[in-house]
Amino acid sequence: MATIKLLDSGKEIKDAAEVTKYLAKHGIISQVWPAPPAWLSQKQNLTDDEKQKVLEAYKPQLENEKTQRGYVFADVISMSVNTPNIDQALAKFDKLHHHTEDEVRYIADGEGIFGFDCKDGHQFLINVSSGDYIIIPAFNWHWFLLTEKKNIKAIRLFKNNEGWVPVYKDATATQPAKA
Ligand SMILES: [Fe+2]
Repeated sequence: MATIKLLDSGKEIKDAAEVTKYLAKHGIISQVWPAPPAWLSQKQNLTDDEKQKVLEAYKPQLENEKTQRGYVFADVISMSVNTPNIDQALAKFDKLHHHTEDEVRYIADGEGIFGFDCKDGHQFLINVSSGDYIIIPAFNWHWFLLTEKKNIKAIRLFKNNEGWVPVYKDATATQPAKA
């Protein structure tokens, strides 16, 4: 289940209902999907066949999102300490950015941190881990980091996979991971 940390006060929100309510206030949808197949956490970087198996395991959820929200494309990303050039790949997303499409992720394994920069000036972090499904609306300023474990396997959902290119506020400013 996702948890929240407010960067100005250091306050943490861990109660599931409170987390959902806080995120909804910011236009972010957070849900919990069924646990992934047990073999997934034993793997590091996934092969194309293994990625396909992950998509098949979540077919009912993906079909539902296609019908209900129009997320018609889905793929799987897999990053670990063994991923070549992982720091370069992550550097694209640790700066404040938005997308012209919603950023939609199901975290199948591992964990990550989304940071948000709100219109009123406050910032907060969402820690996501296995089982979390999150929808960040288009044009919402955010950043993304991995935790120290540097391990994540996630399904990405798109309406149009060309709209997912990051648009930076300041391409040189790395954002905080901790309060
Ligand atoms: Fe993003």
